[in-house]
Amino acid sequence: MHLPDLNIAKKREKRENIYIELKEDIKKVFTNKKYFLRTYGCQMNVHDSEEIRSYLERLGLEETLNIEEANVIVLNTCAIRENARDKVIGFLGKCHYLKKNHNDVFIVLAGCMCEQPDFVKLIQEKYSFVDLLIGTHNIQDLPHLLTTKFKEQEIEVYSESDEVIEGIQYKRDSKYTAWINIMYGCDKFCTYCIVPYTRGRERSRQKDKIIKEVEELIKEGYKEVTLLGQNVNAYGKDIGEKFSDLLESVAKTGIERIRFVTSHPWNFTDEMIDVISKYKNIMPYIHLPIQSGSNEILKRMNRRYTKEEYLELFHKIKEKIPNVSITTDIIVGFPNETREDFEETLDVVKTCEFDGAYTFIFSPREGTPAARMEDKVSMEEKEKRLYELNELVNYYSNKSNQKLLNKEVEVLVLGESEKDNTKVYGYTDTMKLVNIEGDNIKDTIGKIIKVKITDAKSFSLDGVVVK
Ligand code: 5AD
Ligand code: SF4
Repeated sequence: MHLPDLNIAKKREKRENIYIELKEDIKKVFTNKKYFLRTYGCQMNVHDSEEIRSYLERLGLEETLNIEEANVIVLNTCAIRENARDKVIGFLGKCHYLKKNHNDVFIVLAGCMCEQPDFVKLIQEKYSFVDLLIGTHNIQDLPHLLTTKFKEQEIEVYSESDEVIEGIQYKRDSKYTAWINIMYGCDKFCTYCIVPYTRGRERSRQKDKIIKEVEELIKEGYKEVTLLGQNVNAYGKDIGEKFSDLLESVAKTGIERIRFVTSHPWNFTDEMIDVISKYKNIMPYIHLPIQSGSNEILKRMNRRYTKEEYLELFHKIKEKIPNVSITTDIIVGFPNETREDFEETLDVVKTCEFDGAYTFIFSPREGTPAARMEDKVSMEEKEKRLYELNELVNYYSNKSNQKLLNKEVEVLVLGESEKDNTKVYGYTDTMKLVNIEGDNIKDTIGKIIKVKITDAKSFSLDGVVVK
């Protein structure tokens, strides 16, 4: 393995916009070439893929959904839990087969797994047919590395220091709703979590650059932006800004809908609550991971709050923001979690009646403190707890959806429903998925419309357009 001798670091300092100029010989390399891109993981990765897509298309490659005809295969990987890693390893088997039968295929691994030394080592030792590994800090180098390395067979790893690059271009998945990265990385070091290692330290983008991005999106017709950060409400600490001020400035641009994920309870301020309740275009939807209801487990997770503090915040948000919906993340089977610890989690779910919750079995990540903790709880017991928790969580998400039955709600319509193309789908202000029927229904795509809810299930609603 060698680090390519590129002049990129110097260029980066003044690089505002990743400018791609194709020389004639390079143009020829990519003409009529196709790429296949698969994304695993969180919204941050989905948004990174929009950036990757922009580079590939500016190089002249065309997207294909048929991997068999791809000349460049990019897997944007996730490292949060072991099963995300297993999926990528499984997919690499297919890539190997294609490579053996079709010489002209170039395989790129991008994303969080490429920031994990043990994974990089595994690829070098066992999957050396992979052509390029590119970490989360180096996506901007993809055009350069791809053009220089397209014909070579050696694995390249190119990893650089943390920094914030402005003016990135994206080929966005939607014309109506857009992700905006407002900060990168995480400094929280929850003991189970790999993110601080794969995404680096917290660094915030400049407020004026974010506002400019929102204003441009409004001009392009976007109705909604979602501000993204692993720890979104820690925004600004490194540059003397506050998340609540940023939120207010974004609200004042007049964009119709604003969302933000993911909030850490520890950084959730009263000022944020005031701003959210003051501006109608900030959606009443908050994703607020609790992870566990046991103070002992929270402490060992290094979450920096107690169950009581979480509940106090939860009730304050509910009281001050009308109709707010709150969802959460919960981990079961953290090392040596007792039945009593787990029951405290169930109690919190009963108290909060979350609108929804993402639930996970603890997955040890190499290099994190929790992976080294003693754990006497069997996998069978953890699976039982997950099942029990899911039953309860689904009961409350169903209950919260039932409350909307026969009510009128506003929905931003995003496209045709996946299962039934005579319907369209979209999200309420509280982030509930609705499948909608009506005359000339396709004309509603991209608009915010009134919908009457006709059926409510655990994970989605059905509705008809209100004339
Ligand atoms: N094991 C299980 N779940 C995890 N999460 C993060 N790291 C782990 C892990 N090692 C969950 C947390 C986090 C969500 C994005 O993923 O609940 O909020
Ligand atoms: Fe991981 Fe904790 Fe940071 Fe969230 S706040 S990304 S769980 S370390």
